[in-house]
Amino acid sequence: MATANTPRKILVTSALPYANGSIHLGHLVEYIQTDIWVRYQKMQGNIVHYVCADDTHGTPIMLRAEKEGITPEALIDGVHKEHLADFSEFLVAFDNYHSTNAPENKELSESIYKKLKANGKIATKTIEQFYDPVKNMFLPDRFIKGECPKCHAKDQYGDSCEVCGATYNPTELINAYSAVSGAAPIRKETEHYFFKLSECEQFLKDWTRSGTLQGEAANKMGEWFENGLNDWDISRDAPYFGFEIPDAPGKYFYVWLDAPIGYMASFKNLCQAKGLDFDEYWSNDSKTELYHFIGKDILYFHALFWPATLEFSGHRKPTQIFAHGFLTVNGEKMSKSRGTFITARSYLDHVKNPEYLRYYYAAKINSTMEDIDLSLDDFVARVNSDLVGKYINIASRTAGFINKRFDGKLAPSVNNVVVNEIKLSAQTIAENYEIREYGKALREIMRLADAANGFVAEKAPWVIAKQAGQDAVLQQVCSDALEMFRLLTLYLKPVLPKLAENIEKFLNIASLSWNSVDSSLVQDHTINAYEHLITRIDPKLIETMTEANKENLQATAAPQAHSEQHHAAHQQNEANAEIAEAEYISIDDFTKVDLRIAKIVSAEHVEGAEKLLKLTLDIGEDKPRQVFAGIKSAYDPATLIGRLTVMVANLAPRKMKFGLSEGMVLAASDEQGGPFILSPDAGATLGMRVK
Ligand code: MSP
Ligand code: ZN
Repeated sequence: MATANTPRKILVTSALPYANGSIHLGHLVEYIQTDIWVRYQKMQGNIVHYVCADDTHGTPIMLRAEKEGITPEALIDGVHKEHLADFSEFLVAFDNYHSTNAPENKELSESIYKKLKANGKIATKTIEQFYDPVKNMFLPDRFIKGECPKCHAKDQYGDSCEVCGATYNPTELINAYSAVSGAAPIRKETEHYFFKLSECEQFLKDWTRSGTLQGEAANKMGEWFENGLNDWDISRDAPYFGFEIPDAPGKYFYVWLDAPIGYMASFKNLCQAKGLDFDEYWSNDSKTELYHFIGKDILYFHALFWPATLEFSGHRKPTQIFAHGFLTVNGEKMSKSRGTFITARSYLDHVKNPEYLRYYYAAKINSTMEDIDLSLDDFVARVNSDLVGKYINIASRTAGFINKRFDGKLAPSVNNVVVNEIKLSAQTIAENYEIREYGKALREIMRLADAANGFVAEKAPWVIAKQAGQDAVLQQVCSDALEMFRLLTLYLKPVLPKLAENIEKFLNIASLSWNSVDSSLVQDHTINAYEHLITRIDPKLIETMTEANKENLQATAAPQAHSEQHHAAHQQNEANAEIAEAEYISIDDFTKVDLRIAKIVSAEHVEGAEKLLKLTLDIGEDKPRQVFAGIKSAYDPATLIGRLTVMVANLAPRKMKFGLSEGMVLAASDEQGGPFILSPDAGATLGMRVK
């Protein structure tokens, strides 16, 4: 495509992950998707800079650091290392991975703010907010909890109920309390700084019409315009982990103000290291291209606030925003109780090879905002049949003959119909990568792999090898097959960079770029010995991975303090909602459950868990059992010690975030109240069976 033309200059970003959590398979949909696009563009000979950073500011990070007894700086340093290790092992090759808590970002945020102010786009307004009188801080909605005004479920967040799904204002909560100190919040006035988004409507409408957004995203924008644009609250009061606003002591930039500026800051940091020209990419009249890959949940920030911020601070606007859908696993939201809330690290520990996931995601990715499903059975089947069965098979059935019979030397390339067909698809495949229709690109590549396999099967080199005087034919067939393999490797390289690198070594060729389509393996070129390139995924690995990620049903209601910012993080708490409709069970089924009278010998709070207590239970065995029970909201641990209760003694032990849970305590609850743990009548003693 870009062969003869001057290379494009492209700056690409993925959204900056929050520095208060681990990277999981959902995140990877985005980073793998962006990385594939970047690698493709680089193979085309374009000049591409791919930058990202950790999103480090805000209340949740501040509070988490406090809880862990470390400074926010120490917390975000640790997470930065963890994130970067995860990304590099998934072969996501950033040109720079920075932090929003960096001097470049402070400078840029301040200067952008000053320009917005000079352009009359900043206003102040006194607003009333919830305030924690014990902790002496204003509370984001996510840190106010209480009883749902609709279904009366206890301990719901200030913005929405995880039991009935209602959304409301924190003022509507019954018996509201601060999630930080437990105190009842009071209302308090404070002066906030606002970005006058309402004045940016015309600009944003024009910008939306300029083709910067996908169809669905443009429609969403239409809805937002219809509802009217509100001014955007960009300040938060101390204490806050972030940048102080110039000339506004005690006021800080809201994390979402400095987060997208973090894209610029990361690039600026790269410019300093590489001697690049920052202004060439960010000035209002920039000729370069700028693309943001994001999830659909943060479209509002990227399609409204961000372009308006850029416009009224004198910067260029994004060329395009590429929004993608959310990951589901086995057709459902990722779930801790099903073991499908899988971190990047857990995948690496169990499945190991990141390219399986890269391949599977690529096969599913298109240019829309539709959700993407990781069906675990399909994942195994697809990777094994496409990568091992079709693609690698071409080399594994032919390379050995070249190595053994011809000293690794190839025959000259001749006019081969299948080779020609494969070459002819280069343009189509390139276009599909360009427009992020990776699924289409891979379907085409696999169609070509089928053709190559058809060629090998028809020629049957293993038969020719046994015939006398057929050496030249054998060498030709195998050389042609390897040329097909080389071309398919080139096409797959954006998705499978490590495998491609190994294959380049095996074929003894220079790093493949897109214009390597026009060259071919030549006569007498010597390949290296064929070594095993990839193994099949063992479905057992997937099983152990999901098992290891399963959390006890009782334990699932312990959401981490997620970011206050944009959407309720509902992922954690579906367990209660999914207890299946009861069907009849037989008496045999029932007797499988080993219910025992247990004595609670100790009960403790669990560091970092909102709903759990750690119980030690004596059922008359040599060693007491450790069980994590989601009963913290209802019981003071001290009052439990010495009590008798009923436990399920033969529940498979579950590895949880906080340790091993070796059973389950029975407790009653519904939307009106609970949990209430069960107690036997007087006379029952520990260890008795419950029948
Ligand atoms: N910190 C903000 C982004 C600031 S950008 C200036 C944020 N962070 S995040 O960690 O919550 O998400 C990072 C990216 O991963 C977002 O684009 C988000 O949409 C994406 N995903 C997070 N969970 C996801 C899935 N389950 N599925 C697909 N993408 C997901 O938002
Ligand atoms: Zn509710």
